[in-house]
Amino acid sequence: MYDTSKFVLKSEPVILGIESSCDETACAVLRGRKILSNRIISSAAEQAKYGGVVPEIASRMHTEAVDEVCRLALADAGMRPSDIDCVAATYGAGLLGALLVGLSFAKAFACVLNVPFVAVDHIRGHIAAAYLDKPDLEPPFVTLLASGGHTAVLHTLSHTRFEVLGGTSDDAAGEAFDKCARVLGLPYPGGPSVQKLAQSGTPCIDFPSALVKNSQSLRFSYSGLKTAVINYCHNAEQRGEPLRRADVAASFQRAAIDPLVKKTVECALAKGVKTVTAGGGVVANSYLRSSLNEACLKAGLEIVLPEKKFCTDNAAMIASEGLNQYMAGNFSPLSVNAAAAIPLG
Ligand code: KG4
Ligand code: ZN
Repeated sequence: MYDTSKFVLKSEPVILGIESSCDETACAVLRGRKILSNRIISSAAEQAKYGGVVPEIASRMHTEAVDEVCRLALADAGMRPSDIDCVAATYGAGLLGALLVGLSFAKAFACVLNVPFVAVDHIRGHIAAAYLDKPDLEPPFVTLLASGGHTAVLHTLSHTRFEVLGGTSDDAAGEAFDKCARVLGLPYPGGPSVQKLAQSGTPCIDFPSALVKNSQSLRFSYSGLKTAVINYCHNAEQRGEPLRRADVAASFQRAAIDPLVKKTVECALAKGVKTVTAGGGVVANSYLRSSLNEACLKAGLEIVLPEKKFCTDNAAMIASEGLNQYMAGNFSPLSVNAAAAIPLG
């Protein structure tokens, strides 16, 4: 029988990671932190027809793609299933039906091979993407987390522990990008569309910053910024004035991102760490990347930014977090269920 207490740890295990929390079916193979393969089959184009992710479509497409994406990842890595030492898969947070496809597939895979299974918190995966860029990265460091569901500054204390220094009171940064895109009539997914349009604009409109001022703790809020963008666009329409969409995009982008960069650097200095890392889909944003790079350089901090393809959802980051848990001996039972939400930290 499958018994988690019987597994013997290897120093450089081959880890198969599976991700299916939203609209990407992904599989990656890592040897230690070395990426041997990283495959994604995305339903984003299909979802774009509906202007966002339809959970039913996501689940069906994962079901069709999960076997294929794993076969491709194993073939790219030149591995057979019997070469795998550990299987890691996202168990939450995300769409339940979508999560269950990758999770069940991964549990069956681990059970048949009789190797450890690690159920991965998707957000910890985003944090662990930094180790892909710098395998010898050692905590403690400060991490900016900015995705479609989360926005927070974290003090990463060890490979398995972090402390939340501050977060958002309402929407996440990625959600705000998606809503801004919708108001501007841009296609799904919103973040890359807003970024593209912003490149031809000037940040000349004074939208409210996403930083909550006069708060005892570090807080961000995106609802005021979102409302300001909606009102600005509607007012222009009502007055019959031409809407400078590129300027709106550039101004929104600045208001959404500048406080994240400023506060991340301030937190790093306050905590006395030498390194800043970042993760989550919004970290693929070119303006965020160059601002954070510049701010860290100015403050004398090292910055570790995962490649853009490892900021948005992928399975290499899930395997990377799988390795963190594997090294700590934190294996999961096969009874682990999918979770729509997981509290941060
Ligand atoms: O991390 P992620 O791929 O999925 C979640 O875990 O949520 O993040 C998705 C979010 C979306 O809201 C998307 O619009 C945003 O990340 N995003 C971006 C960019 N690429 C993706 N936001 C701003 N600029 C981008 N280039
Ligand atoms: Zn994500």
